[in-house]
Amino acid sequence: MRNRSAPFLAACRREPVPHTPVWFMRQAGRALPEYRAIRGTGSILEAIADPERATEITLQPVRRYGVDAAILFSDIVVPVWATGFGVEIVAGRGPVVEDPIRTPADLGRLRPLDPEGDTGFVLETIRRVAGELAGDVALIGFAGAPFTVASYLVEGGPSRDFARVKTLMHSDPATWHGLVDRLAQMAIDSLVAQVAAGVDAVQLFDSWAGSLSPADYERFALPATTRVLDAVRSLGVPTILFGVGTGELLGLMSSAGPDVMGIDWRVPLDVARDRVGPGRAVQGNLDPAACLAPFEVVAEETRAVLARAGSAPGHVFNLGHGVLPETDPGILGAVVDLVHAEGRAGVAR
Ligand code: CP3
Repeated sequence: MRNRSAPFLAACRREPVPHTPVWFMRQAGRALPEYRAIRGTGSILEAIADPERATEITLQPVRRYGVDAAILFSDIVVPVWATGFGVEIVAGRGPVVEDPIRTPADLGRLRPLDPEGDTGFVLETIRRVAGELAGDVALIGFAGAPFTVASYLVEGGPSRDFARVKTLMHSDPATWHGLVDRLAQMAIDSLVAQVAAGVDAVQLFDSWAGSLSPADYERFALPATTRVLDAVRSLGVPTILFGVGTGELLGLMSSAGPDVMGIDWRVPLDVARDRVGPGRAVQGNLDPAACLAPFEVVAEETRAVLARAGSAPGHVFNLGHGVLPETDPGILGAVVDLVHAEGRAGVAR
């Protein structure tokens, strides 16, 4: 277990911090030459299933950027993949499902997760990383939120309009709820095991929740997400809930009960703080595409995020979504230094 006063963990609990903590979604990945060097040419799932490589990939951004948290190198589809459901991750595209879920009978193909038996490699990676990290760098575990994982299983792959998912939820709500209930249980079983193995906080990725109207989010996504967060709360580690394009959903998402709400770049952090309410920290929200600009511009944008975050405790600096592969790692390292030097949320100076 990390130092409870590690800056990242303190900020999640809205306690004073020595500096604003920062990490980047997708910090382990193609932007890093050292990642490309050991990633190998096979499926990313093979690299994830190899604890030695996955440990090294998880630690690379900590060494390179000096971030306050590592995020486990894995993927949101690992639990379904590991239970034998046919899914692959296609480079440049994302998860692709051979035989998508469309009917009640298809639910029978999703079996419960045995975390040690099916994903022992993930737990081994966590134990190794936790053993290597200094006490003030936290390790974040994660799972996909039921809606976002379901979107891949029903669509069969990445989608623009989520037409098939929405068709299923509206035309056959019983099958839909059966699906997200199973995925919620998988996420719970995975996260409980990740915490037991040594992660210090967990993030639930509901990346595509922003495709839903508030009414549909409340009816078709929120209950299963709330169930996952309720189960994890008793484990005593901070929880983060994140999605993209969720400006109109932030109030509802907050009602699921995360300690920290992830905010994309579309909502200024002061507005986001109002929408999520006083009992939660916020995480974000530099536009990942802004990081492709010259550093003077990136610095200006970073300072704008810090200004919106204000001085009240409870800000974890991050991008509004994942690092783009074409990002210059030197820029991200300079962002970390700038945030550490100039962030004010909960910092006595
Ligand atoms: O550094 C980290 O963030 C840790 C590792 C991580 C990966 N996937 C590794 C990965 C995390 C946290 C994820 C979560 C994930 N996976 C999400 C939620 C976060 C988000 O981006 O919204 C989603 C939607 C997925 C599904 C997925 N997996 C997509 C859309 C892709 C991209 C496909 C591509 O090639 O652009 C993947 C593949 C993937 N997962 C890569 C990495 C580093 C890149 C591919 C590779 O190196 O082969």
